[in-house]
Amino acid sequence: MITDKLLQILPEKVRTRIEPYAEALELMSEVRDPKVAASLGPSSVRGLLLQRGKQGVPTKIPARHEAYFDWTYPSDHAEMLELYRRAKQNQWDGDTWLDWSTHVDPENPEVAIIPDNFLNFEKLEGYMGVRMTPRERAKVRSDVCAWQLSQFLHGEQGALFAAAQVTEAVQFFDGKLYGATQVVDEARHVEVFHRYLDTKLQKLYQINDNLFVIIDALMSDSRWDMKFLGMQIMVEGLALGAFGTLYRLTEEPLLKELLKNVIRDEARHVHYGVLALREHFQNHISERERREREDWSFEVALLMRNRFLAYEIYEERFEGLITRAQWRDVVSTSPGLEEFRHVMFSRLVPNLREIGLLSDRIKPHYDRVGLSKYFGGRSADQISAEDMISELDQKRAETPAGLRAANA
Ligand SMILES: [Fe+2]
Ligand SMILES: [Fe+2]
Repeated sequence: MITDKLLQILPEKVRTRIEPYAEALELMSEVRDPKVAASLGPSSVRGLLLQRGKQGVPTKIPARHEAYFDWTYPSDHAEMLELYRRAKQNQWDGDTWLDWSTHVDPENPEVAIIPDNFLNFEKLEGYMGVRMTPRERAKVRSDVCAWQLSQFLHGEQGALFAAAQVTEAVQFFDGKLYGATQVVDEARHVEVFHRYLDTKLQKLYQINDNLFVIIDALMSDSRWDMKFLGMQIMVEGLALGAFGTLYRLTEEPLLKELLKNVIRDEARHVHYGVLALREHFQNHISERERREREDWSFEVALLMRNRFLAYEIYEERFEGLITRAQWRDVVSTSPGLEEFRHVMFSRLVPNLREIGLLSDRIKPHYDRVGLSKYFGGRSADQISAEDMISELDQKRAETPAGLRAANA
C-alpha cells in the first residue's frame, strides 16, 4: 500500500483513525476503468468516507427510476412465467417451517456454528503473541458467524428494496409477476435472518462499508438493468457463495435448515436475473453499453473479492492488539473465506458468460486475476436449486479432511 510508509510514522492512535480513510482511497484507486470509477464514486464517498451506513437510523438513499406500465398485460416470457408458477408453489413460512425451539449455543464446540479453522487462528495468535483459550476462540467464532449473518441480513434488506424497484421498472410483464414473488421471498429472508440473530445469537453488527457502497450504487442508479446486474447477478451471486459455504460448514441444525430454504429461493432469483439480462443485453442495448456493463461487472467482482474483511470485529476485539494490516492478513488467509470466494466465483463467472458479459475482450482480465478456471461452469439457468443443495451435501460428505476436520 502506497500510504503504508506514511502511516507507520504516525502515533498509533492517529494511525488507527486515519487508516480506514487511507484504505478507502486506495480501494477507489484500484478501479482502473474511469467510467466505472465515475459510476461508483459518489456511493464510495458516502459509504467509505462518510460511512453513511453507520450514522444511525434512518439512512435515506434517493432512488430515480421509471415505473414501466403495460395496460395490455401481455404473456411475453414463458420461462419467467414458469418461474413465477414455481415460486408461488414453493413459498414457505419462516414461522412454521423452521424449528425455532432449537437450543442454540454458538460457543458450544460440540455443535460448532462454524469450524474452528474457519478463521486463521494460528496467524492471529502469532501476531498477538499469545495463544487464545478454547473459550476465547469459541467467542471469536461466534462473533464471526454473527458478523456474517448480519451482513446477510443487511444484504437482504437491499435485495428487498431492489426487487421492488426492479418489479416496477422491468419491461417484461411476466417478469413483474415473478418479481412480486421475489419481494415476498426477500421479506422472508429479512425476517428469518433477523430472528436468528436476535433470538439465537443476540448480536447484530452494523453494515459493512463496502456492502453499503454497492447497495447505495444500485438504489440510486436509474437504469433497471444496472440494478439487476448488481443485485441479481453480483450481490445474489455473492450471497449464494456465502450461504452455500456456511450451509456446508455449520453443524448447527436450525441455521443449516434456514440456509437451505433461503438457498432454494436465491437460486430462483439468480435464474431470473440470467433470463432477463440475457434477453435485454442481446436485443435491447448497444455494443458500447454492453462493454460498459462488462467492465463494471469485472471491477465490482474484484472489489467484492477482497473487501469483506470483517473490520467490524477487528474494531470490537483486536484494535490495539494487532494492526489493521495484520488483521487483513489473518482474514484473507482464512480457509473459510477462501472457500467462500471459490464458491462465489464458481457461481458468478458462468452467469456473466451466460448474459453476454464475458467476451474475448474481457477474458484476459479474468485470466490475469486467476478466475479463468470458472469460465466453463454451469450457469443459474442450467442448475436447479436441488442440484445446488445436493452438490453442497456431497462436498460436505466428501471432505472430512477439509475445513470441518478441525472440529473433530
Ligand atoms: Fe434473499
Ligand atoms: Fe434474492
